[in-house]
Amino acid sequence: MSQPDVLVTRPIMDAPLARLRERCDVTVHENEFGIPRDELLQVVQGRDALITMLTEKVDAELLAAAGAQLKIVANHAVGFDNVNVPDCTAAGVLATNTPDVLTETTADTAFSLILAAARRVGEGERFLREGTPWIWGPLMMLGQDVHHKTIGVVGFGRIGQAVARRAAGFGMTVIYSDAVRLPAKVEAETGATRVELDELLERADVISIHTNLTEETRHLFSHEQFKRMKPTAVLVNTSRGPVVDEAALADALENDEIFAAGLDVFEQEPSVNPRLLNLENAVVIPHLGSATVDTRNAMGNLAVDNVFAAIDGTRPPTLLNPDAFTG
Ligand code: DGY
Repeated sequence: MSQPDVLVTRPIMDAPLARLRERCDVTVHENEFGIPRDELLQVVQGRDALITMLTEKVDAELLAAAGAQLKIVANHAVGFDNVNVPDCTAAGVLATNTPDVLTETTADTAFSLILAAARRVGEGERFLREGTPWIWGPLMMLGQDVHHKTIGVVGFGRIGQAVARRAAGFGMTVIYSDAVRLPAKVEAETGATRVELDELLERADVISIHTNLTEETRHLFSHEQFKRMKPTAVLVNTSRGPVVDEAALADALENDEIFAAGLDVFEQEPSVNPRLLNLENAVVIPHLGSATVDTRNAMGNLAVDNVFAAIDGTRPPTLLNPDAFTG
C-alpha cells in the first residue's frame, strides 16, 4: 500500500522530518524564499497532507487545487491568519496550528526587544561597529528604565501572559487590554489588571502587542494611538505586522512622540518600511519570535503529530476546526 503523500512547504527541523518520513512520502520544498503562488497551486495537487508556513495563503483556491485527497493543512505556526479556516471546513479539510510549544520562546523574544529598544542596544552596537570615537560620559546614549515601570500587554493570551510573568521579575506593574476579562486566577497569577486600551496607552511605559491579526486589530496602532502614548514609551510587536501602521509608527518615532520601538514582524514581510530601517530608535529583527532549536523542533513535532492523527482518522491535538472532524 502506498504511503500518504505529504508536502512540506519549507525545510523544517531534521528530527520531525525524519519522523514524518517514517510513515509518509514527503516532498520538502527546499527554496528558502518560499513557493510562488502559481507553483504552489501545482505542487499541492494530489497530496494527503500539507505542512504550511505563515507565508502560504490557504484558501478555497488552494484547497480546490489540492483535490479531494487532502485531509489536513497543518500550519507550522501558532498564528493562522494565513489559513481560511471556514474554507478548510467547507472543503472537509482539517486545519491545525502549533500553539503552546512556542509561548515561552516568543515571550523571551518580546522581552529581548523591550530591553533592546529601551536601552538602545541596537544603536550602541552600530555605534561601536562603525568605529565612532567615544569615551564614557554621564550623558551618553541614555535610555529608559524597564524595571519597576508599567507594562501594558495588548492581547492577554498565552504569550501575553508569559510576558507578564517575565515583567513581574522586573518588578513591573502589569496592565492588559483584551476583548475579554481573563479569569481571576490568571489575573492573580500574573498580577495583571485589565484596563481599556486608551487607558493602557496613556499609562504604560512599555507596550507589548500579542493580539491575533483580524479585521478588528489591523492597524490597531496608528497615529491616534501613538499620540496617546508617553513620549518615553517603548512599543514592541511580536504578533503580526499589520497590527501596527508602520508609516504612522515611523512618524511617531521620527517626531519623538514615543521613545523607541522593537519589531519582530512587519506589515509586508519580508519588506520593512525603509524609514524604520533608517531610525536609530527602531530595533528590527526578521520574525524570529519562535526561532530557537528546541522550539522549532517542538513546532515541527506538533505539526507532524497533527498530520499523523489526520492520517489515522483520530482527532489532531491542536485542531482549529472541530466541525471538519468526522472521526
Ligand atoms: C507563529 O508561530 O505564528 C510565528 O509567528 C512564527 O513562529
